[in-house]
Amino acid sequence: MSLTKCLLFALLAIVATASVSAERVRYDNYRMYKATSENAKQLAVLKDLEGSSDSILFLDGVHIVGAEVQIVVAPHKVADFLDILGKAEIKYELKTSDLQKSMDEVEEKVAIKGRATRAYNWAEYYELDDTYAWLQSLAQQNPGVVTLIEGGKTYQGRSILGVKITKGGSNKPGIFLEAGIHAREWIAPAAATYIINQLLTSEEESVKQLAENYTWYVLPHANPDGYVYTHTTDRLWRKTRTPYGNCFGADPNRNWGFHWNEVGASSNPCSDTYAGPSAFSEIETLSLSEYLKSLKGKINLYISLHAYSQYLLYPYGHTNELPDNVADFKKVYDASIAAVNKRYGTTYTGGNIYDAIYPAAGASVDWAYGTQDVRMSFCYELRPSSSSFLTGFRLPAAQIIPASEELLDSIVAMATEVKNLGYFD
Ligand SMILES: *[C@@H]1O[C@H](CO)[C@@H](O)[C@H](O)[C@H]1NC(C)=O
Ligand SMILES: [Zn+2]
Repeated sequence: MSLTKCLLFALLAIVATASVSAERVRYDNYRMYKATSENAKQLAVLKDLEGSSDSILFLDGVHIVGAEVQIVVAPHKVADFLDILGKAEIKYELKTSDLQKSMDEVEEKVAIKGRATRAYNWAEYYELDDTYAWLQSLAQQNPGVVTLIEGGKTYQGRSILGVKITKGGSNKPGIFLEAGIHAREWIAPAAATYIINQLLTSEEESVKQLAENYTWYVLPHANPDGYVYTHTTDRLWRKTRTPYGNCFGADPNRNWGFHWNEVGASSNPCSDTYAGPSAFSEIETLSLSEYLKSLKGKINLYISLHAYSQYLLYPYGHTNELPDNVADFKKVYDASIAAVNKRYGTTYTGGNIYDAIYPAAGASVDWAYGTQDVRMSFCYELRPSSSSFLTGFRLPAAQIIPASEELLDSIVAMATEVKNLGYFD
């Protein structure tokens, strides 16, 4: 290309990015592989690959030998990628040769922006602004019961907006529900708003009690910048949007200041599990942690919503040592996964994070348990099951309600068991 042509193209590119602020990322002809390391050497090769290029996206962290990792590879990188795997004799399987096509098979309806407040429902997914407008309308319509709370701020200056629900009056034991810290896990904020609505409107005795016995703090979007980015630009975005060199974002669920970055996180800013340059480097986790500290002593149960794989998890993520009250965690876990199964037969498994899924230090549930005396702290990985890995983050809109109903069944059982064990006294 001649120099003038080259300059012209550069200019056009600048104009294009300026006018169309964000072009949507597509995954046409991107392949998805599952690869497994069999020894430390192979693990190191995969670790080097992770974050080496924005054309190779690891959907799982590379932290333990023997664990399967899902890797999305752009068409032009396939040859290089297979060459590297081949030389290291790493076993792999091709899962799809067109990820976009696989993703498109899931009908994921998004409500038309701006129309939502009047008819907010759970037949579609919502953009951030619509959910925020809905939360504001709830506060207006339920004075003395719903109070808007700001859990923190984001890098791009947004508010981490939520609601405090005091249906049974003040001074009730607190339950904190945080969702959406991973941007692409859309079912998590949708389920959180479903629960808010049920707490306010359900006629079912168990749900009415759940609303009246506790003070609820619910933040549907703990990572608003990331969530907006999944709507405007890249459906598979996970992290915050803080710039770090040529890459963006830290993993806000590896960024909390409790055994930060000891294991199961990456120090590479281009990795999806980048722990950040330091604990609480992200304004999202820093400000949210400050908000939580301001509630110290008032929160008895902390729940974090993620997707997917149908797991229920409890501390710790940084070590396989078990919490001192693990016997109680197990009782609550048993009651909760039995209840999640009742309505639709959905099976959840789980246990302590480190053994049940993988080592992961710096998660919110561990920080709440480890530093804030929140003695009961759980993380749900919602629908779908891990066998739906091609579309996992895209749960069909038609499943928002059933996934949320069974979650609420589970949370009723969880709160009841936590209460029976005396943690709300
Ligand atoms: C709510 O409180 C009532 C009365 O103390 C109790 O019987 C019920 O089990 C509680 N329900 C939950 C979900 O905490
Ligand atoms: Zn997650």
